[in-house]
Amino acid sequence: MTNSCHICGLGSYVPPKILTNRDLEKLVDTSDEWIMSRTGIRQRHILDSGVNASDAALVAARAALTDAGVSAGELTHIFVATCSPDYFCPSTACLVAGRLGLSARSEGHGAHVMCMDFNAACSGFLYGLELARSALSLRPDAVVLLIGAEALSRRIDFSDRSTCVLFGDGAGAVVLRGAGTGCLWRVRDSVCCADGSMHDLIVMGGGSAMEVKKGDALPDDFFLAMQGREVFRQAVRSMTAESLAMLERHGMQVSDIDLFIAHQANLRIIEAVGSRLGIAEDKVFINVQDYANTSAATLPLALDDARSQGRLKPGMKVLLATFGGGITWGAALLG
Ligand code: UT7
Repeated sequence: MTNSCHICGLGSYVPPKILTNRDLEKLVDTSDEWIMSRTGIRQRHILDSGVNASDAALVAARAALTDAGVSAGELTHIFVATCSPDYFCPSTACLVAGRLGLSARSEGHGAHVMCMDFNAACSGFLYGLELARSALSLRPDAVVLLIGAEALSRRIDFSDRSTCVLFGDGAGAVVLRGAGTGCLWRVRDSVCCADGSMHDLIVMGGGSAMEVKKGDALPDDFFLAMQGREVFRQAVRSMTAESLAMLERHGMQVSDIDLFIAHQANLRIIEAVGSRLGIAEDKVFINVQDYANTSAATLPLALDDARSQGRLKPGMKVLLATFGGGITWGAALLG
């Protein structure tokens, strides 16, 4: 695998509409105190009706392209990590490409771009980094746009207090290419893992296993369902183990890391992983309080947020860890 995979642009988007814990108190039997103490979440951003994951993805993508100084016509690959795509077909990646003006009907580069959605649930962004590394290994001049975009509010049952307080909508994007000017961080390594024997821990229906006929009412399993306690346990265990394995593989100590960014699902999970790793608290980035769990978007959103806050600078050594449905998990090392 090539070492020549670099993040050279970042962008993100969250919709303006905010749903606070107090708003949720009016919908279900919950409280700001319960949500804050169990999850650290204060608010989440929700897409308006008629605005979809692809719209959020497009705004994040444009910001990342501008940041990278790359024009849409230079892109060779668009990968969208999502478990809440606009459609099963066409892919969100194709929708984004179309709106970026990449068309066989246009002059020049036109449609020479590979567009694809993939679903690794909340682990999608790290799975996407691995895909980008693979693409660049096959084709060193590739210019890859990787987006994590979710419209999870469309698949949340807002009468189920055990899930509706946890998720939000948003998108984050990065542009990846080989070594060169303008590179912010080298993707030094990535590892992606899965254990399908635990597929039932997080389930969101709506696929072809759901045998619905026209006119049927929506079955309950259309909405996201989660075995929260077990997911919590597995998330802490696997993100800790894979982070330590990643450091060991590179002969690094935890103290060598400048910033640790874990999947933003629950403050208590992030703190538990941080304390098991023994990493200084000021090196652990947290923004789950503002966005809740945006699934595949959490890591690029956090990277962009960390940079805006001055916590993340080009060349810093960043350890990323994630966990999600499937179950899937992974870690990556930047810098
Ligand atoms: O991105 C995928 C990864 N997802 C995650 O990482 C989520 C992982 N899991 C979690 O974050 C936590 O398990 C939750 C936040 C989902 C739940 O926290 P918990 O401390 O594990 O609570 P619990 O599920 O054990 O529930 C404790 C109590 C229950 O009441 P009883 O049975 O003890 O009477 C729940 O019914 O809290 C109740 N509860 C609520 N109460 C008020 C559950 N949700 C709520 C709520 N408001 N929103």
